[in-house]
Amino acid sequence: MSRLRARIIGTGSCLPEKRLTNHELAKMVDTSDEWIFSRTGIRERRIAAEGEYTSDLAVEAGRRAIAAAKIPADSLDLIIVATTTPDLIFPSTASIVQHKLGVSASRMPAFDVQAVCAGFIHALAIADQFIRAGTCWRVLVIGAETTSRILDWQDRGTCILFGDGAGAVVLEAEIDGERGILSTHLHADGSQLELLLTDGGISRGKSPQGGLGVIRMQGNEVFKQAVKAMESCVDETLLANNVSKEQIDWLVPHQANIRIIQSTAKRLGMPMERVAVTVDRHGNTSAASVPLALDEVVRSGQIQPGHRVMMVAFGGGFTWGSALVRW
Ligand code: ACO
Repeated sequence: MSRLRARIIGTGSCLPEKRLTNHELAKMVDTSDEWIFSRTGIRERRIAAEGEYTSDLAVEAGRRAIAAAKIPADSLDLIIVATTTPDLIFPSTASIVQHKLGVSASRMPAFDVQAVCAGFIHALAIADQFIRAGTCWRVLVIGAETTSRILDWQDRGTCILFGDGAGAVVLEAEIDGERGILSTHLHADGSQLELLLTDGGISRGKSPQGGLGVIRMQGNEVFKQAVKAMESCVDETLLANNVSKEQIDWLVPHQANIRIIQSTAKRLGMPMERVAVTVDRHGNTSAASVPLALDEVVRSGQIQPGHRVMMVAFGGGFTWGSALVRW
């Protein structure tokens, strides 16, 4: 029997124009470029302009991925958007993206996935299942966030960490091919939500500040959990595919903190030259971080056909996961 595999045939990304440097942040809260850079590796992040929504960034990243894939947008069978900062409570950002791409007439399904910083890996895993099952041939998967909209700009423990952006991939089914997504691994542990959450929401109601909620995080505890989860996910992925560390060519990790990235790279014995790093310029863009970093290394020509690429992410929930791709 023939086997279907989901191959990434195009990537794209989009960042808002506005840069916010650590020096500028130091004028807003009691912090410094030195503190932020030494603890996180972040120098600056992008911030969406007023009137610039998650769907705007998502649609531009999606357009670029579709162009790179050299396919007509209306040949897509499914759009999945991973986001924690949707334009609206409903409809889904994916529905809005479908409309903005001008492909509503195709009637393809479109929905959002919410797994915070691990959202893109979750969306990729879902798309992979649709393709393996033979339900879809081409899927657009986007990670997009305007995380700046759920920050408390007085909380120096969180507002220095995050940024806005979007990244996207187009997946296409390949019959009996060697390339494509080899495996995906997803996990969640909802027992420690008080360590990382928003302080308001829809059902629970408004946050003390009056809005729908801002990020509250016990950074050092989350840090420890992130290191542990990302390392164990890397081990799990190697084992599941019966491949050694040496057989991994690229690591594309979630971009929350350079120290978490370095510890994951160390687990893989991976030199930092083969690790996608954007955290210095993007900060933590949550669900957008992995596809943004992926697009950068793909467009620079560093990822070549045949390379094994490990993507791994950790975020609120807690949720975490990985994907191993043969490029
Ligand atoms: N500037 C200066 N000082 C600061 C700042 C700041 N921006 N923020 C905190 N501090 C102070 C604290 O008040 C504390 O001071 P004290 O010792 O006088 O109490 C001191 O610095 C140390 O604080 P910690 O929180 O222990 O600092 P840490 O070294 O852990 O770094 C950080 C904090 C950068 C947040 C780190 O813990 C981290 O990166 N955590 C992981 C974040 C993450 O991976 N999140 C997951 C994804 S996010 C998502 O899913 C939405």
